[in-house]
Amino acid sequence: MEYSDKVMDHFMNPRNVGKMDDADGVGEVGNPKCGDIMKVYIKVKDNVIYDIKFNTFGCASAIATSSMATELIKGKTIEEALELTNKAVAEALDGLPPVKMHCSVLAEEAIKAAIDDYKSKQG
Ligand code: FES
Repeated sequence: MEYSDKVMDHFMNPRNVGKMDDADGVGEVGNPKCGDIMKVYIKVKDNVIYDIKFNTFGCASAIATSSMATELIKGKTIEEALELTNKAVAEALDGLPPVKMHCSVLAEEAIKAAIDDYKSKQG
């Protein structure tokens, strides 16, 4: 299986890894296909996601897509972030091996879950 240079870069040096004690929204999802887990934390101000962190217990593709997804979303509005698809993230990484596409869903879903959590806390 071949990974692109960008996938390898984000896997070896993932951006925005960590956790937040004071997040405005937290999302956690599991991948039913493999049992891997991802958790996303967001900070929001004036409808803009100005900080984001993630933790993934997952494979190289899950780590790389999570890293790229957080980079793409930082500084975006809630609405823009909700439009991010796992396909767009995979494209930004110059593609993923087809058998690994399911791993990229984790990032998209965890981000959506974090935004849901943020919205429900807003009431
Ligand atoms: Fe589980 Fe990739 S194998 S997320």
